[in-house]
Amino acid sequence: MAEDKKPTEQELSRRKFLTLVGQCAGWGGIAASLGGVGVGTLKYLVPNVLYEPSSIFKIGQPSDYGVGVDTRLMKERQVWVVRNERGIYVLVGICRHLGCTPNWFPDQQRFRCPCHGSIYDMQGNVRGGPAPRTLWRSGVSLDAVDGQIVVNFNQRQDPDPKGTAEGLVVEESSREVSPFFLKI
Ligand code: FES
Repeated sequence: MAEDKKPTEQELSRRKFLTLVGQCAGWGGIAASLGGVGVGTLKYLVPNVLYEPSSIFKIGQPSDYGVGVDTRLMKERQVWVVRNERGIYVLVGICRHLGCTPNWFPDQQRFRCPCHGSIYDMQGNVRGGPAPRTLWRSGVSLDAVDGQIVVNFNQRQDPDPKGTAEGLVVEESSREVSPFFLKI
């Protein structure tokens, strides 16, 4: 008859160790699953939204703008605010050729696009280069409460220009109309 052999101290410690390892693996798996569910839930609760600035925004009082082209909002809002003797309009700073950003050169009274050389005058007419249309003008209005100018960036005036010896031009009186011009 086989004699019952008591496990040695060493065997007992080895068994304890293996049991512990097994338990850890189990709990680890559960923790990993719960972690996955948690991350999924958080992603659901915090949707992947890109917050863009509003396309309708205020730009201050009409008295903040003197005669000429004001470039202060170009970087932040991609518009130039232009004042002439009759009022204010807002040009969109996007080249009508392939969408680059032109620069304003006050000494030449021209916008010049660095990409392919389109040239625009202060009214947005094309005075040179490949641009096929004049610069857009954005919708403008005055806020009834605080009197600030409100720009509607996505409301665009886009008239058909006439080909002339000076370039692609639009009759200015046809552009100085509501809601693209503030008579002030
Ligand atoms: S994008 Fe302005 S000239 Fe081509």
